[in-house]
Amino acid sequence: MDATRNPYSPGPGLAPPALAGREDDLRAFDTILGRAEHGLASSPLMLVGLRGVGKTVLLRAFRQRAEAAGWHALSLEGETGAGAEARVAARTARELDLLSLKFRRRRGRAGFARALASIETFSVNAGVTGAGLTVASRPKAPEAFDFELRLFEVVDCLADRLMRDRAGLAVFVDEFQDLPPVAAGALVGVQHAASQRGWPFYVIGAGLPNLPSVLARLRSYTERYAYRTIGRLDDAAASAAVVGPAERLGVEIADGAARLMVAEARGYPFFLQTFAYEAWLAGADDRIEPDDAEVAISRGYDALEGFFSARWDRATRAEREVLRAMAEQAPAPSPVTALAARLGKPVGSLGPPRRSLIDKGLVYVPERGRLDFTALGMADWITRQDPPTR
Ligand SMILES: Nc1ncnc2c1ncn2[C@@H]1O[C@H](COP(=O)(O)OP(=O)(O)OP(=O)(O)O)[C@@H](O)[C@H]1O
Ligand SMILES: [Mg+2]
Repeated sequence: MDATRNPYSPGPGLAPPALAGREDDLRAFDTILGRAEHGLASSPLMLVGLRGVGKTVLLRAFRQRAEAAGWHALSLEGETGAGAEARVAARTARELDLLSLKFRRRRGRAGFARALASIETFSVNAGVTGAGLTVASRPKAPEAFDFELRLFEVVDCLADRLMRDRAGLAVFVDEFQDLPPVAAGALVGVQHAASQRGWPFYVIGAGLPNLPSVLARLRSYTERYAYRTIGRLDDAAASAAVVGPAERLGVEIADGAARLMVAEARGYPFFLQTFAYEAWLAGADDRIEPDDAEVAISRGYDALEGFFSARWDRATRAEREVLRAMAEQAPAPSPVTALAARLGKPVGSLGPPRRSLIDKGLVYVPERGRLDFTALGMADWITRQDPPTR
């Protein structure tokens, strides 16, 4: 059928035509918004889950709901590598700068003057001069920039006005586990200080399953955060994700066809979108039959080949050895000691590839001394490779 009308959206961060099975999570976020209306605080909410389960699209749905409720929102994304800290500081400055432009345009600017000045100070100190800034200044060295103090000042200067408006300020952070420690510490530190003072400032995050331990190492009070595990969809939600969008466009998916795709995707949203996208292309005359679903699953796996092989290609030879040993050890998270034994190497020698695999986001530490893949199905894919690429 016509590709231009294909509603399905396989791909990182692409909004699905139906956000299925996340009603409880949306309700949890609405509760935060509702409590703020009554001047009541809530714990920060953090979404954790493996690659491709739908964290980013859910985080974005939260942001839309917050803005619809009259809140102000900033969006940040964790990143690693050289210069990450300065880039995240600059991104924060830019987001704040956009906020200050919004305040400047608004009628009834009263109460924002101090906030505007504090945002300007943040930007100048972070070495960024943006569209809303009035002072041109030489960028300071990043180490002179106190992220937490500057952010605290901004929130401090905004709090009264926000409370009068019954609005909140929320920072939405994707890939939170990769946020440089200085930025992550600043966000959770300011959130902590704000909640003690009753200020409506919230950090809402999404990340891989190691996020709780990353944050707990920074500040122990993050153990009390509301972590929500985002996982596979149950069959009813998976079916709704596949059937609903076609139906709304007058296309019927035969029961048998939907069942095949739902069974093959095992509740994994990224796979569901991939199969349903291909099924739409394979169908004809506004119908998708079981035969079309069979074709779609096969083409879907071809499409997913790129998803897995791109991850494999990013690994060095030494890292691939570890990945293969993990695949052999699957499905449980592999104890690093067992991996070393399997490879006939001392445990210590696994340190560098382990570190770089974590940095590349290919594996994570579900619990001390263990490793697991961040993408569902990666172990199966590695096992299927022929000949073995060790
Ligand atoms: N609730 C849902 N119902 C249907 N499809 C969904 C749902 N959530 C996500 N998807 C689809 O799954 C795919 C992955 O979503 P998303 O990029 O948000 O995952 P993620 O958890 O952020 O992955 P990553 O860890 O790789 O960033 C997208 O194609 C998206 O459209
Ligand atoms: Mg994501």
